[in-house]
Amino acid sequence: MNRAERHYDEVTHAWAQWVMGEDLHFGLFHEPSDSLATATLALTQHLREKAELSPGDEVLDVGCGIGTAALYLAREAECRVTGISTSRVGLGEAERRAREAGLEGRARFVLADAMDNRLPAESFDRVFSLESTHLMPDKQALFSECARVLRPNGRLALCDVCLVGSMESEQGALMRYVLLGHSAAEAARMREAAFETMHRAFGSTKMTHYRQYVEAAEDSGFVDIEIEDVSRQVEPTLEHWGLNAKEHAEEIEAALGPEYLQDLYSALRDMSFGWGRFGGYIVMTARRAP
Ligand SMILES: C[S@@+](CC[C@H](N)C(=O)[O-])C[C@H]1O[C@@H](n2cnc3c(N)ncnc32)[C@H](O)[C@@H]1O
Repeated sequence: MNRAERHYDEVTHAWAQWVMGEDLHFGLFHEPSDSLATATLALTQHLREKAELSPGDEVLDVGCGIGTAALYLAREAECRVTGISTSRVGLGEAERRAREAGLEGRARFVLADAMDNRLPAESFDRVFSLESTHLMPDKQALFSECARVLRPNGRLALCDVCLVGSMESEQGALMRYVLLGHSAAEAARMREAAFETMHRAFGSTKMTHYRQYVEAAEDSGFVDIEIEDVSRQVEPTLEHWGLNAKEHAEEIEAALGPEYLQDLYSALRDMSFGWGRFGGYIVMTARRAP
């Protein structure tokens, strides 16, 4: 079992109950006063619009969490959705919720790694992925698999947390540490330590610059690739997660341990610090070439 699999099996229930809610992803805030639930649904709706779905479309939901978006698309967009994930815990919950909603005929959930998904070629009209691809280290394998299972002209819509800044701004951040009296080597180690904390808190293997998403998609035969930077619209999410974690600190500590709670606070602080300059959030759409 790899790090992302273990992580999601461990955190899914705690995140859904106490930190994020049933949508295990950022929210898109149209108004600062929006609730987290309103904003997370708004992000799902935004991606739904970008995916340009029609009733009856076969949709692959890559990294389906506990099935919230898949069930939403099956119900509201009248699609047939296959959700894949490497977390058995998440899939079990998604299946239970599909049965409860009477949607098992239109939404199914399969244990599969998105970088080698074993699904039949050209069997989907759309690939949809909400905040899961940062957990997949081999972006080339991921986009090749997405292209393989899409029908010609099929559409990909994904959103995710990633690196958004320029090399210059990254150098600038290192320089700020240096000006505080640290050596360049110490500054680099501090940055690596911040990434490591983020990995423990959120389970990701490595943050990737969105340019690498674009390159991997191009190399896999995607065309009409568009990137929308929504870093600022999703930013209030970090504060909501922090406040939720504080409110439910006791429950989270009991479920995941005190170290986890500290890692979560530290990761949220580090992400807030560089948000929009280093880390950020993109929505990406593309079409599989005919
Ligand atoms: C942040 S959660 C997002 C879940 C869901 N899309 C949502 O927005 O509520 C990331 C999801 O990606 C899944 N995941 C991680 N690595 C994966 C991989 N290699 N292949 C498929 N799913 C993966 C996790 O198990 C989890 O369900």
